[in-house]
Formats: sequence, structure tokens, C-alpha cells
Amino acid sequence: MKPGNAGQPGAGKKVCVVGASGKLGRYMVQHALDRGYEVVGVCREQSVPKLADFDGRITVIPGATNTPEVIARAVKGCDAVLTVLVPWGRKRYASGTAQAVLDHARQDARLVFSCGWHITRDGKDVYPRTFKFYAAVFGRLAKIAGVVDVDDQVEACRRIFASDARWTVVRGSDLEEGDSQGLPVWSRHVGDPILASNMTRRVDYARFMVEAVEDDDLVHEAPAVVGRLTPSALAHAGGPA
Ligand SMILES: NC(=O)c1ccc[n+]([C@@H]2O[C@H](COP(=O)([O-])OP(=O)(O)OC[C@H]3O[C@@H](n4cnc5c(N)ncnc54)[C@H](OP(=O)(O)O)[C@@H]3O)[C@@H](O)[C@H]2O)c1
Repeated sequence: MKPGNAGQPGAGKKVCVVGASGKLGRYMVQHALDRGYEVVGVCREQSVPKLADFDGRITVIPGATNTPEVIARAVKGCDAVLTVLVPWGRKRYASGTAQAVLDHARQDARLVFSCGWHITRDGKDVYPRTFKFYAAVFGRLAKIAGVVDVDDQVEACRRIFASDARWTVVRGSDLEEGDSQGLPVWSRHVGDPILASNMTRRVDYARFMVEAVEDDDLVHEAPAVVGRLTPSALAHAGGPA
């Protein structure tokens, strides 16, 4: 146990942040340290300098996150794995990353994955027309350009939903920078009125991911989150969150 962290939720526990160098990843690293966890971060080799602020406070494992050997090393002995699932490129980065985590994390580890509202678990989400239009046009153009492969992120989540692991898939609304508004609120389906504002501070999205580790009610849930001070959250407080 790290000196001085007794009594904190993360005392004596180790978490791995996969995709630690991105904006969401760095917020998650900071939240995890604040909660007393020992932290291992995985990121692409060229992105290691982006973690310089955490020098001496976390262990960094450089490498592509869809490489099984890299993930196996990083998640060894971890109580939880927080994974940023991104649909970048043509190389099945998202599904390869998810599969490596599912294959190599401890069987009883808490696994928390990030993605967007476009992922649906049971097909009961109801999307605004503008959202569907943007997702269809952007998704197709980006795939043709070879920049983004949303279908692979869908495949990654299909594999997670089908697994017996202790997973949570946190579906983010649009994100913005800014000071914390507190823990986001959530609902099971996009289209629920509480989510209508479609905006969350990135720092709070990261906090939701980290706090999900200790929240067993979120095991096998795919919460769609929204900022707790947004108009829709304020108008409909009292939902599942
Ligand atoms: N942006 C939004 O409005 C939004 C909305 C809803 C949900 N989300 C979800 O939130 C999570 C974080 O998204 P974000 O937009 O906020 O970005 P982010 O936190 O900055 O993360 C981007 C991640 O993608 C990696 N990456 C960038 N280019 C890559 C490439 N060519 N190949 C492999 N990896 C690459 C980055 O790694 P490096 O540091 O190595 O570059 C970083 O880990 C994602 O799961 C996303 O689906 C985002």
C-alpha cells in the first residue's frame, strides 16, 4: 500500500489505464491517483511524453493497445482496467484492444470501457435525427478515408457485451473541457429525457469511469452519461443515477 492512502477507495489496489495519454486517459490517471490507486498506463510509444506530468507516480508501458503482449504485461495483477476505446484507423484497433483486455485481465477484475452514445446494447436507444445523420455521414466518409472505423468500435462492444467479465461500457455524450460539475448522471437509453442536453465535461466523464470501478451496480450496464448540471439533468433528476 502506498504511504498515506489508507482509507481511500484505491488503497492497496492497482488499476491499468489503457489509452492513458489521450485527454480522457490523462484525466482518468489523475482521478485514479487521487483515489489512492497504484496506476499503470499504456499508450503508443510516440505518446509517452504526454504522460510527463505523472513521471515517478505511475508505471508506463509503451505500445499499441491492440497488442496482446503489451496488454498482458500491463494488466498483470490489476484489480481494474479502464480502457479508452477509439475507432481510429483500419487495423481493428478498438476490437483488438478490447479483445486483448478481455483475454488478459484477471477474471475477477473490474473492466470499464469508454465509447460514445452511438453504441447500443439492446437496440432500444432512440437517437435524434441530427445525431443519426451526422453519425452516418461522418462514419462513412471517415471509413472511406481510412481514418476512423466506427464498425470496429461496434464490434469491440459486441464482444464486451457477450463476455462474462465484470464489465461496464460507459457511453459518453458530446464532451467539452471545463471545470468539474460533479459526477455525471446516467440512463440506460439514449432518448431518455434526462440525457437530452447531450453534453458532459471530459473531466467528469473520466471520474464516472474511475468511480465505476467501485460501483457493482454498474456491472453489466452500458450507462449513457450526461453532465449533472446540464438543463436536462437538472429537469429530470431522480432517474437511475
Ligand atoms: N470526443 C467526443 O466528443 C466524444 C464523445 C463521446 C464519447 N467519446 C469517447 O471518449 C473516449 C475518448 O475520446 P476523446 O475524443 O476524448 O479523445 P482522447 O481522450 O484524446 O483519446 C484519443 C485516444 O485515441 C488515441 N489515438 C489517436 N490517434 C490514434 C491512432 N491513429 N491510432 C491509435 N490510437 C490513436 C490516442 O492515443 P495517443 O495519445 O497515443 O495519440 C488517445 O488514447 C473515446 O472512447 C470516445 O469514443 C468521445
